[in-house]
Amino acid sequence: MPTLIIVGALWGDEAKGKLVDVLAHKAKWTVRYSGGNNAGHTVRTGGETFHFHLIPSGILHPDCTSVLGGGMVICPKALLEELQTTRSKAANLGELMISASAHVVFPYHRQIDALEESLRGDSKIGTTSRGIGPAYQDKAARTGIRMGEFVDPARFGPRLAETLEYKNALLKLLGGESIDYDELFDEYCGYAAQIKPFVADVEVRVNKAIREGENVLFEGAQGALLDVDQGTYPYVTSSHPIAAGACIGTGLPPGSVDNVLGVCVAYATRVGSGPFPTELFGDLGERIRVAGNEYGTTTGRPRRCGWLDLVALRHACRMNGFTSLAVTRLDVLQDFDSVGLCTEYEIDGETYDWMPSDSSILSRARAVYSMLPAWKGDIGGARRKDELPDNLLTFLKTIEEFTDRPVSMLSIGPSREQTIVLRPDLCWAN
Ligand code: GDP
Ligand code: IMO
Ligand code: MG
Repeated sequence: MPTLIIVGALWGDEAKGKLVDVLAHKAKWTVRYSGGNNAGHTVRTGGETFHFHLIPSGILHPDCTSVLGGGMVICPKALLEELQTTRSKAANLGELMISASAHVVFPYHRQIDALEESLRGDSKIGTTSRGIGPAYQDKAARTGIRMGEFVDPARFGPRLAETLEYKNALLKLLGGESIDYDELFDEYCGYAAQIKPFVADVEVRVNKAIREGENVLFEGAQGALLDVDQGTYPYVTSSHPIAAGACIGTGLPPGSVDNVLGVCVAYATRVGSGPFPTELFGDLGERIRVAGNEYGTTTGRPRRCGWLDLVALRHACRMNGFTSLAVTRLDVLQDFDSVGLCTEYEIDGETYDWMPSDSSILSRARAVYSMLPAWKGDIGGARRKDELPDNLLTFLKTIEEFTDRPVSMLSIGPSREQTIVLRPDLCWAN
């Protein structure tokens, strides 16, 4: 069972980073396949907290090689800063490799991201303003600069010159500030020289490793409902967080996918704009936000909070082919009186047991809930299933029955140890 893809089931921040760190001790490779530093993946271990944005969350395991795959868009400055911070906190890191096919994020991408958002007015997406959308626009337009040419000064210079001429015209049109070629070239050549030793055709290496039976963990960023094709368009990111994105972003053959772990929180969160049928406004939403410390890892924005949406989760199970689920932050709901699970929507007087793809229709959905009694007492110290309260087990069983997927892992606190593996056979953990 050498390949396992970890995917956020809903709108991101499900604790993918924590689970990747837990599972990476048995992996030879951890591979990020999409997104950029819009991601924020938290790992807490040995009294230290790490926030990974570009570096795969398996990096803390010295025997595991961490790969930034070709489906990513990478800000070199942010990457070098993150590397420095990580090295200052942990002595023994795994090897790092960067795909020559990954696209480079430049300051004009960040400027354009912010300018386009301000032009959207009331219909803004609420991006992380990291230049992610504009970098993927360049990739789709076939004008982006990739890592392979970025680290070759002879090719990078002319490519940057032709790109910057166009970008400066665009920035002028959008009301931004033009960027000086010489300054940008000098600064980014400095980054390129530092990054060059990590850049390679890593896809070939990863594919060879899979053929040779080595465990390869694919680390999803964002969440399935933020997928540019399958998510709540246009309130999505510009890449493919879904499981199929691992194939697109790393050249993984679809037939080599063994297991797909869908990660969901015991409730639901979303940062940025867009439909969110189970969002709780008022005291209850605020209580979850405070109990779960629901503030964005990348931007610090308060996350919108609500009950777990089983209709959306089942939708995610279908499109990702989750072979099992991990349910996280179960401790946050301890001592609530009851917890809600959304089992259907009512939209314009009609009942839906499936998720419509049109955001304007979905935004009119009224969630219908099954309310279950919550669990009492501190569960953060539990290490086995039989130490968990019956009400929590009933909650999990309800999720399993509705989605028709087994729950293989539980997270009952932010640290590595606060993890319970129910089905090691489905995720190689033990
Ligand atoms: P990711 O983007 O999916 O990796 O998730 P984030 O790191 O953005 O957000 C998850 C947050 O939940 C982080 O602050 C984690 O430290 C925290 N966390 C992870 N698992 C648990 C858990 O089981 N309980 C609690 N209370 N916090 C958790
Ligand atoms: P992780 O990997 C939560 C959201 C943004 C915005 C939309 C588009 O930590 O789960 P973008 O900057 O990508 O163009 O923003 O996507 N978003 C995330 N929300 N977690 C993330 O990553 C996210 N990455 C992007 O808030 O709504
Ligand atoms: Mg996050």
